[in-house]
Amino acid sequence: MLITDLRSDTVTKPTPAMLAFMFKAEVGDDVYGEDPTVKALEQKTAEMFEMEAGLFCPSGTMTNQIAIKAHTEPLTEIICDVSSHIYQYEGGGIMFNAGASVALVHGERGKLTPAQVEAHIRPLDNIHFPVTKLVSLENTANKGGGAYYTLAEIAAISAVCRKHRLALHLDGARVFNALTAANEQPQAYGHYFDSISICLSKGLGAPVGSVLLGSKDFIKKSNRIRKALGGGMRQAGYLAAAGLYALNHHIERLHEDHAKAKALEEVLLQADYVEQVLPVQTNIVVFKLNNRYTGAAFVEELARHSIKATSFGPQLVRFVTHLDITEELLVHTLQVLTSLNGERAF
Ligand SMILES: Cc1ncc(COP(=O)(O)O)c(C=O)c1O
Repeated sequence: MLITDLRSDTVTKPTPAMLAFMFKAEVGDDVYGEDPTVKALEQKTAEMFEMEAGLFCPSGTMTNQIAIKAHTEPLTEIICDVSSHIYQYEGGGIMFNAGASVALVHGERGKLTPAQVEAHIRPLDNIHFPVTKLVSLENTANKGGGAYYTLAEIAAISAVCRKHRLALHLDGARVFNALTAANEQPQAYGHYFDSISICLSKGLGAPVGSVLLGSKDFIKKSNRIRKALGGGMRQAGYLAAAGLYALNHHIERLHEDHAKAKALEEVLLQADYVEQVLPVQTNIVVFKLNNRYTGAAFVEELARHSIKATSFGPQLVRFVTHLDITEELLVHTLQVLTSLNGERAF
């Protein structure tokens, strides 16, 4: 039986058309700045978000960590949500790479409000405190069940940052899901953020790669940091080509993933083993089980039906829809979820 892999949108394999495009890429040594396909990808993404320049990196963790390192220094502090990827899932990299402190905000579904940001800014003239330097947002918020910021919300937070001379970074691992759901365009982002990390290897379906966007000076500094982290890649154009293909062909279809996540939500809302489903906004479904299953037991039960999911805490489970979840796999999953109603408790 085919596997339905709902663990993450990172599990997608390149389509035959994407692979064919990758094979045809014109490449050069990108550490020498000679790879035309990498340059084309960096330029295209920078233009999309109306930022000056871009830097192709192996992962979203690297683009985030480079940005944090470039914006901060020891004795300074970053404001972010407690559930944010940069804090929870980047291996403690903020301390390791930047040596900066973190002010954790308990936002709503991973999202901050302007008032929360303002409340976490340290008084500048008191040496007991680190110096607040950077605010980092995540759009969509992964641990927040794919909740997204609208441009208006971003503009309001950006205004607080400008007022207090703080840099604003976006972990936009799934920013195209956010833009799709909000029915907004990426251009305005460039005016509100000082740096943006976008991932090509999540919902867009490329096998690898993220791009960091910012001003020319910021990207020049970031290029040095990328080199020091070992992220300088040589004939990376083969990978950048996958990203270009994804940007040209896989953005318009993201609404299909959102519709599939909605279909999963509807069935889960009827299920007698579910206590709560975080209202679905994009391609992530996070739900809480009641006492009939633990998260781990439920994931095991699904595995018996060839469905893979992530246990996201003792009673929490996460599904993520993506390019490789066909209509047939969705129907199979919906049937399995329905069939588990009335099952013996574990
Ligand atoms: C919100 C968010 N940011 C950053 C990353 C890091 O991306 P990567 O796995 O490419 O390092 C992820 C990965 O899933 C993510 O979900």
